[in-house]
Amino acid sequence: MTGANGNLGSATLAALRVGGAAATGGSRTPGEGTRHLDFDDRTSLDLTGVSTLVLISAGYAEDDQVVGRHTALVDAAVRDGVDHVVYTSVTTAGDHLGFAPAHRATERLVRASGLPWTILRNGLYAELFGGLLMWADDGVESPFGNGALAAVAREDLAHAAAAVAANPARHRERVYDLVGTPITAGQVADRLGVPHRTIGLGSTGAGSSTRRQDSCRSSRPCSCRSPRASGTGSWTAPLPTSRNFSAARSAIHWPRPSRRLPPHGRKQASSGSGRRLA
Ligand SMILES: NC(=O)c1ccc[n+]([C@@H]2O[C@H](COP(=O)([O-])OP(=O)(O)OC[C@H]3O[C@@H](n4cnc5c(N)ncnc54)[C@H](OP(=O)(O)O)[C@@H]3O)[C@@H](O)[C@H]2O)c1
Repeated sequence: MTGANGNLGSATLAALRVGGAAATGGSRTPGEGTRHLDFDDRTSLDLTGVSTLVLISAGYAEDDQVVGRHTALVDAAVRDGVDHVVYTSVTTAGDHLGFAPAHRATERLVRASGLPWTILRNGLYAELFGGLLMWADDGVESPFGNGALAAVAREDLAHAAAAVAANPARHRERVYDLVGTPITAGQVADRLGVPHRTIGLGSTGAGSSTRRQDSCRSSRPCSCRSPRASGTGSWTAPLPTSRNFSAARSAIHWPRPSRRLPPHGRKQASSGSGRRLA
């Protein structure tokens, strides 16, 4: 297991161990039960004795650097006689995303390595979706508009990776899209019994101090681009009662906060207008 100190890597390693696998983690900062493994330091890439390698993508860099890292590890796997490589990629539906090319290039590397392989095309993390869906004064707000995301919790992706790695022969030369049921921010708000307002991405704390772009209160068909939506952004939804809020909070499963936030994407929500949902 690479990336043993990362969110997905640590969860996958834990799932493997719970399942009884003799799993070892690799990390740039190894602790007890993990070994030193830094894709940028080829001398650290010793995979002798590894039967199945779970390669967690190391994605927060320019594409050529990411692909270079993955190439180094796949080369080491071939050299050291690894029997099977499991690579965590990005969902097929993510082909338009900026970080998809490095994933697809790595998939080609893995397939061309000559080693048996399995590719797990992971959906976007539900934690990222939750991170941009915030409580506002009297409801929730997000930059998602009416767009739906088939997000998946990292924990679920970790269990899928562990299941494959524990029995790799069953999953040889298979590509799995691991995605959830598409859901909109409006549908989450409906479950909470509160209104949803669409804001601009800049309003989430990622840069601009502009508070709004347009308004949306529901996942149901609506005219988010209505003339009113292009106005001042006044929002006239009725205030939910505190009883509504507490009932809504107890009705849904609140994910555990991630141990670490992904370092890319955006800064922490800093508007001070609400708290993050996950
Ligand atoms: N599906 C999605 O929504 C989504 C979103 C964002 C990112 N991703 C991808 O999924 C991966 C895992 O996500 P995550 O949330 O677990 O990220 P994370 O917690 O930030 O972990 C990043 C991982 O990359 C490893 N890494 C980075 N540079 C490395 C290097 N030079 N050598 C070896 N390992 C290196 C780290 O390992 P150590 O710290 O243990 O050395 C760590 O496991 C990311 O790296 C990214 O490629 C997916």
